[in-house]
Amino acid sequence: MIGTGYVGLVTGTCFAEIGHSVICVDKDQSKIDTLNAGGVPIYEPGLDVVLRKNRKAKRIRFTTDIEEGVKNSDIVFIAVNTPPLPDGGADLSFVEACTREVARYANKYTLLVEKSTVPVQTGERVKKTLSVIQKSWDLIEVASNPEFLREGSDLQDFLKPDRIVIGVQSKRAEKLLRELYSKIKAPIVVTDIKSAELIKHASNSFLAMKISYINAIAQLCERVGADVVKVAEGMGLDARIGRSFLSAGIGYGGSCFPKDVSAFIKIAEKNGYDFKLLKNTEEINNVQRHIIIKKLEDALWTFKDKTVGLLGLSFKPNTDDLRNAPAKDIIDALLAGGTKVKAYDPVSMERMKTMYPQVEYCSSPYEVAKGADGLLIVTEWDEFRKLNLKKIKSAMNTNIIIDGRNLFDPKKMIDMGFHYQCVGRAASPTEQEGSPTPVVSRV
Ligand SMILES: NC(=O)c1ccc[n+]([C@@H]2O[C@H](COP(=O)([O-])OP(=O)(O)OC[C@H]3O[C@@H](n4cnc5c(N)ncnc54)[C@H](O)[C@@H]3O)[C@@H](O)[C@H]2O)c1
Repeated sequence: MIGTGYVGLVTGTCFAEIGHSVICVDKDQSKIDTLNAGGVPIYEPGLDVVLRKNRKAKRIRFTTDIEEGVKNSDIVFIAVNTPPLPDGGADLSFVEACTREVARYANKYTLLVEKSTVPVQTGERVKKTLSVIQKSWDLIEVASNPEFLREGSDLQDFLKPDRIVIGVQSKRAEKLLRELYSKIKAPIVVTDIKSAELIKHASNSFLAMKISYINAIAQLCERVGADVVKVAEGMGLDARIGRSFLSAGIGYGGSCFPKDVSAFIKIAEKNGYDFKLLKNTEEINNVQRHIIIKKLEDALWTFKDKTVGLLGLSFKPNTDDLRNAPAKDIIDALLAGGTKVKAYDPVSMERMKTMYPQVEYCSSPYEVAKGADGLLIVTEWDEFRKLNLKKIKSAMNTNIIIDGRNLFDPKKMIDMGFHYQCVGRAASPTEQEGSPTPVVSRV
């Protein structure tokens, strides 16, 4: 497994869990040192336990030596990062670099599998690169096996996936990959390599589009006084639509959707197709987090010399991943406006501290609320649903809560005396205009 990040580490650990012998390679010495010292460099529920078990059984090991990894493996996965380029396309330089290394060190038939999310036709580039370096032209075969796991439920997603997609060019490669996954019960979709690459981008972009769609509906709900949660429920019970990814809020973030949508638009453009549908998806998403910032600003009147508390920092619950997290844009806007920012997140504060040392990190939501002029709910961690709201209210300077994740019932919040606004729900702001709840300052 080349690349021992969120995907490589989880996938490697799960392959070990189903009985394979796994070598995880990473060029990041500190990551490998942490793993070799028995640590886990990322937060993923349950990963530490499964990893400990497989370390003990000697089914998994960690190294920075790619030569050792390649020479001792039948199947080599590329699970390195594919970040966005400034033009929105995927930066494939990490994929290219490890392709070259594999070509250098493979000394027997090796199946080289794209696990990283890559644009369609990357497999052809990988093959071309191999062909200029390889000594024997058919020593390394290329395949695609995109990953669909979701941070926060990675282990479950690997061990009980909806489907496994295998893009191959030979029966030999198909047989090897089928054997590799033989212990996993799931439909296997076997395709050519290009279709497999496309399945990944098409799936992520579709889910991102669903999120933007419901966020667009939320905007309309706010304008006409309807409730987007009810609309989503009514839509989602239709089996053709489904309820998942129909939660209005701050919009999607994370390491996958934003970059995958823009890379998909770019590869379509390169091939002569203007993917307007996805351009709109991106546009709606980019606006969404700023709508929340604006709601907070309207409630506070100005940001200057205020104290604002953020509940949640990671881009979604059950992960410490902060890549493209809406919290960062929100903190930027607040700091630029002269606001003091306090924050609490169950697992991602240590990571955030390195990027935003100016923020005051608190040990609980109640400490965040203490002296805050406004609270902003950024991530839908379960523990926030169970907050003692009376305690929150009495700790705050004002009664302003802006909920970017629709965690609470607006009517109940307003009845409790909060100035409460969320996303696309009738009680905010239309009902509040009818029966205004004053923004009360206790200072
Ligand atoms: N994070 C997710 O939930 C998720 C889900 C599905 C697919 N993916 C895709 O999987 C790929 C990896 O994502 P991630 O989140 O694990 O990234 P990551 O940044 O967490 O990990 C990538 C790792 O690869 C290592 N690396 C880079 N170049 C290397 C090289 N030449 N040799 C050895 N190691 C090298 C880096 O040091 C890093 O540790 C991306 O293409 C991503 O789009 C991610």
